[in-house]
Formats: sequence, C-alpha cells, structure tokens
Amino acid sequence: MYSEKVMDHFNNPRNMGEIENPSGVGTVGNAKCGDIMRMYLDVDEAGVIRDVKFKTFGCGAAVATSSMATELVKGKTVQEALQVTNKAVMEALDGLPPVKVHCSLLAEEAIHAALWDYAKKRGITIEGLQEPVADIEEIAEA
Ligand code: FES
Repeated sequence: MYSEKVMDHFNNPRNMGEIENPSGVGTVGNAKCGDIMRMYLDVDEAGVIRDVKFKTFGCGAAVATSSMATELVKGKTVQEALQVTNKAVMEALDGLPPVKVHCSLLAEEAIHAALWDYAKKRGITIEGLQEPVADIEEIAEA
C-alpha cells in the first residue's frame, strides 16, 4: 500500500536531527492522531535555505513526508520553499494512501511554521505566508 519511495524515506530518513541556533524553527501537530513534527531551517543572507533538519514523533508516513519535504526545500529560496505544498510532497513520494494524506499536510505546515519563525526573527514579511494556525501548546491541549 506504500510506494517504494515512501518506504525508502521511512527506512532511511534524510536530514533527520536538529540545527543549533536555527534561522527558523516550527513545530506543528495533529490533534487527532497526536503526531508532532518539528522543522529547523538554516537560511543564509540571500534568503536561501542552506540546511534543513526535522524531528518527527509520529507515524511512518509522517517520517517519510518530513524527510521528503526537507529534500524539496533544501537549496531553495524561502519564497520557493513556500510553494512546496503537501501535494508536491505526496507527488514526490509517488502518492500516499488516502488515510495518510493528513501526514503530508503536517509536513507543509511544519515548513510554513519554520518560515514564519524565520520571518519573525528577521523582521521581514514573506509574501503569501500565513501565520500558523495553532502553536504546539494549543495542539497539546486539544
Ligand atoms: Fe497522523 Fe500520520 S497518522 S501524521
């Protein structure tokens, strides 16, 4: 039921870990399944994402989508990273079963939350980026 790519990213996740003093970090969660994803970004002066790491406490599809999401945003500008939607992540993984679509949404939200944090720290606005819906405290209490 899972594609080879999903299994590959689940078994050998890319960019797992954390970044010390990240340019931006975002944590999101899904209140229903309880899974949590954190994304760290290292962005250079030109606004290019030089490094990205993730930590995911969640299901296998959440691990695979985080891993693929980091691969997709690495080397991109923050503006380009904003275009990495959950659909793009799913396509890159050759699809996900319908019950696992929300896991890929978590990856998109984690990127956005990390970008939001980066923009806040730099005092800039990233066009098209919306404030994350809820922070992790609210998710934990939900
Ligand atoms: Fe919730 Fe996968 S089951 S993120």
